[in-house]
Amino acid sequence: MSFGQRTTNGSLFSIRCLFSRSNDLPNRDLTRKLARISLESEKVTIQKMEAKDLEEVLFIESSDSLTPWSRDMFVEEMRNPLGYCYVMRRKDESKHPVIGFMCFRNIGEESELLKISVHPAYRHLGLGKELMKFYIDFSRERGITTFYLEVHSSNQPAIHLYRLFSYQSSGMRKKFYQGKWDALLMTKKA
Ligand SMILES: CC(C)(COP(=O)(O)OP(=O)(O)OC[C@H]1O[C@@H](n2cnc3c(N)ncnc32)[C@H](O)[C@@H]1OP(=O)(O)O)[C@@H](O)C(=O)NCCC(=O)NCCS
Repeated sequence: MSFGQRTTNGSLFSIRCLFSRSNDLPNRDLTRKLARISLESEKVTIQKMEAKDLEEVLFIESSDSLTPWSRDMFVEEMRNPLGYCYVMRRKDESKHPVIGFMCFRNIGEESELLKISVHPAYRHLGLGKELMKFYIDFSRERGITTFYLEVHSSNQPAIHLYRLFSYQSSGMRKKFYQGKWDALLMTKKA
């Protein structure tokens, strides 16, 4: 398995989404339904984030993040020797070449997940789990024993995802996001 070009766990996906951006459609549920119906026979890959991915990454980032990173922040993170940024791509290079991404930092035996996001039209299809599996396997193989992250305390999809990977609540940062919303701290021991 070559690092930086991993096919997700042998899973096969066929995501024939007909629209270039999720908000081209009045009904986002319909987009999701179409993607789910055909999620069966086409592989996706996880690869190192490159400059050419940034437009798609920034679109996904702008869709939900409370603290969206700018282009410069992603570029800086991609250059950071302790930083790792990866994208999930459809193999068919169609209108949504990038359907998810993540950034994390590994220092010594500790890792911090900084960003994880799935394109809005492709959520709830198992791709978040694929990204997390990649991240944890990748980091464990490099000696990471403790994983940290922060998440908005009401972000149930994300908290549910992290609990599936045995993250546990380890604290709370009051008014962490924009001075208004609390962050839940979560930790996982490898
Ligand atoms: C959090 C996020 C990455 C999850 O990605 P995803 O591809 O939708 O997740 P998956 O399809 O792999 O689902 C993972 C689990 O969460 C559950 N889940 C996903 N979306 C959900 C939702 N909206 N409501 C309830 N549960 C949900 C799934 O059912 C699954 O659990 P299960 O296996 O027990 O059924 C995605 O919602 C996202 O990009 N959110 C915006 C960015 C964000 O909030 N990132 C986290 C910042 S810390």
